[in-house]
Amino acid sequence: MAITDIPQTLWWADDPATGRPAVYMVDQSRLPLAGDVLVCNAYSGVCAAIQGMAVRGAPALGVAAAMAVALWAVNETDDATSVEAFLTKLDEVADEVAATRPTAVNLAWGAERMRALAHDNADVSLPELRELMVAEALAMVDEDEARNRRIGAFGAALLPQDARVLTHCNAGSLATAYFGTALGVIFTAHEQGKIGGVWVDETRPVLQGARLTAWELRMAGVPFRLITDNMAASVMRSGWVDAVIVGADRIAANGDTANKIGTYGLAVLCKEHGVPFYVAAPTSTIDLTLPNGDDIVIEERDPREVTGISFSGVIEPHTPAETTALDALTREGTWVVPIAKGHAMEVTRKGGAYQVDGWARVAPPNVEVYNPAFDVTPAAFITAIITENGVATADFAASLAALCEGTGAIHEIG
Ligand code: MRU
Repeated sequence: MAITDIPQTLWWADDPATGRPAVYMVDQSRLPLAGDVLVCNAYSGVCAAIQGMAVRGAPALGVAAAMAVALWAVNETDDATSVEAFLTKLDEVADEVAATRPTAVNLAWGAERMRALAHDNADVSLPELRELMVAEALAMVDEDEARNRRIGAFGAALLPQDARVLTHCNAGSLATAYFGTALGVIFTAHEQGKIGGVWVDETRPVLQGARLTAWELRMAGVPFRLITDNMAASVMRSGWVDAVIVGADRIAANGDTANKIGTYGLAVLCKEHGVPFYVAAPTSTIDLTLPNGDDIVIEERDPREVTGISFSGVIEPHTPAETTALDALTREGTWVVPIAKGHAMEVTRKGGAYQVDGWARVAPPNVEVYNPAFDVTPAAFITAIITENGVATADFAASLAALCEGTGAIHEIG
């Protein structure tokens, strides 16, 4: 068990089926109970993966956005007649990619970085431009990991010996190109022998904590206990938490921070119980164009995330008769299982395996739902924001601006 056992989040490789480049990613919407790898041959595939949360987490979304634009450049521009025509279409593609989810600023940052690179190199040939764009997207993978390791080092220094840390959602390796932000701090502190244990919030409704953070910590050999979100207050009141560390999707100039829904409640609890509340994020998550968090757009997602629970897995037939029946039912590829009361389940034959994807209804049909995916924690509740360039504290406006200087953090979204 080691952090190195955690797979790469997404990568660029030739697809043997087409002989052309593709973006590969671990399908996080199904982890950890099905370990699918998705292959995207066109930028629209990456967009669909982002919207379906196969790839998620702000820094990973930044890299995915850059790879989507690079993929378009190499796979979908054979008919481009000039660099000028290429750049015009590129602007549309970059806008479309940036708009796939609204809250994480890294998405726009990744797409924007590719757009800027292409426009800055408009004097080279199209084949050269395509190569430059792929190289830029791949460089972002290495940069992201390097940044996370620096965040890890700065953050670990803030923790006491035998720290009991609570985290929310998944700000781990899977949420980045590699290593993670909030979990990067925990991994680093664990390597230094400083972690007493981690409290993992399950993170309703999509369960990134229960599914992804628990999976990563198990793999890295970090001791942890899983709790439901509504247990955090009681755990903190018992005096069992020395620090809360979370990631971020967008940090405004004054330090107000958007992160997974439920983060704000934890910050309030920290203030009440005298527990430090840390945000760990690269400077690419800082949006200096927003003076405060009031204008951060909060994504609202499918009500079915709240009215039920999705699940994935693999059927293991025990007898030849079961195998024969499953083969017959999945002859067309997928068997849509008829279940009453609006539950949903499909079985798909994949090679020799039968994959199950389902959704179990919990609430009665036709209830009204409010499902914001993120909330904004006011800066006043944040003890420190840990970036790859150092640790920002109040006054955040001055502190963050200084840490962002020269990093390419978003100053103006084109
Ligand atoms: O909806 P998600 O899973 O993309 O939300 C992810 C989070 O809120 C993470 O905490 C955040 O992106 C930071 S990831 C290093």
